Amino acid sequence: MAKRCSLRGKSTMGQSILLGVSGGIAAYKSVDLVRRLRENNHTVRVIMTSAAQSFVTPLTFQAISGHPVGCDLLDAASEAAMDHISLARFADQIIIAPASADVIARLAQGMANDLLTAVCLATTAPIAIVPAMNHRMWHNPLTQANVARLQQFGYAVWGPDEGAQACGEYGLGRMLEPDAIVKHIENKNSVTPIHSKTIVITAGPTREPLDPVRFISNRSSGKMGYALAAAAAHSGAKVILISGPTALAPPKNVEFISIETAAQMYEAVMQQIPHCDIFIGAAAVADFRPTAVAPQKSSKNDFSNTLALTANPDIIHAVAQFKPKPLTIGFAAETHDVKLHAMRKWVDKGLDAIIANQVGLAEGGFDSDVNSVDLYSANGATHFPQQSKTELAYRLIGWISNYYDKQTKDSIKNIG
Ligand code: CTP
Repeated sequence: MAKRCSLRGKSTMGQSILLGVSGGIAAYKSVDLVRRLRENNHTVRVIMTSAAQSFVTPLTFQAISGHPVGCDLLDAASEAAMDHISLARFADQIIIAPASADVIARLAQGMANDLLTAVCLATTAPIAIVPAMNHRMWHNPLTQANVARLQQFGYAVWGPDEGAQACGEYGLGRMLEPDAIVKHIENKNSVTPIHSKTIVITAGPTREPLDPVRFISNRSSGKMGYALAAAAAHSGAKVILISGPTALAPPKNVEFISIETAAQMYEAVMQQIPHCDIFIGAAAVADFRPTAVAPQKSSKNDFSNTLALTANPDIIHAVAQFKPKPLTIGFAAETHDVKLHAMRKWVDKGLDAIIANQVGLAEGGFDSDVNSVDLYSANGATHFPQQSKTELAYRLIGWISNYYDKQTKDSIKNIG
């Protein structure tokens, strides 16, 4: 079904793309998306929800895609043209843009109460949602839980972007521009420099026990590390995610190693490094552990005013000492003097690059769904503005992939 073609110098395949359009003002942008996908040699068929038809007519999508548009699960004429099972089989990739809060909720519940959701249930093709909604609807914990559930089941989430919204408000919830969506599809289909490379990622906090019921830990949610693991796996890398305790489900297509303490994380990482091409330290590793761990629950009377602590190994520093060492990327989450601290850690730990962000603000950082970061490397500084951690992860993996490619080519030149 797929045919090879050249996209702006990249080798990729013309695919059969099924575009689901749900209700929202951003539906008009999807008309342009279809045009661009066809220009890039993809075959596009469109399914519209009934809400989408209040914004753009099926005739518009029919004219631009060159195929009849699927609108109704229970309509004999549409089912005769191409039934929902055939549509599910047709798709190499399903993209839902815009994906409204309503369609995200229905997909997360496994509902099949219209043509689009029925096709999504019946397909084995990868599905990406491109959310578009008011920023308060996007931040609503119910929407966030639905999005997280879809990610658990292997759905990719592209966006949303931050900006002025149709309702006159400002925030995170704008649909990605068609250009950015096309880039996601191209990146997904093209062979990236990190394709088949092994990437080890640490994520989440570590827990350092005092006794069987108490521990020292920190506020890391693991969201950034898990998003990086998902994005790297989508780019075709073999990903090993070594994680402390979090509330997140491991992303699809990722080898998952669960640990609790910094010492266990160190052991797990050291075992993987000899076979690893890239190491990303996204974990918030506890620097110290209680020197003595009581075998039974201590009483408050057992604690003195001081707690004896022993330093934990610096995992990423140990990784950077390996010869040959993997491309080694660290994180620095700081409350103040962010650049200063990040640069010091970049040098002291022997890293190739460090990704710095500010924590302790109302938005962004630990436990937030959004983040903005600055990345420092021998190439200088790169700013990544505030965006969802999912979107940011794709951009960071894109940067890491290009840097890895350049480094590999440079070292081949030097040998030559
Ligand atoms: N890191 C690590 N092992 C440790 C501590 C940190 O691998 N024992 C890694 C983190 O995963 C991150 C980077 O080092 O990639 C910076 O972590 P951070 O906690 O900011 O640095 P620290 O060395 O703990 O410095 P400080 O406590 O002075 O902020």
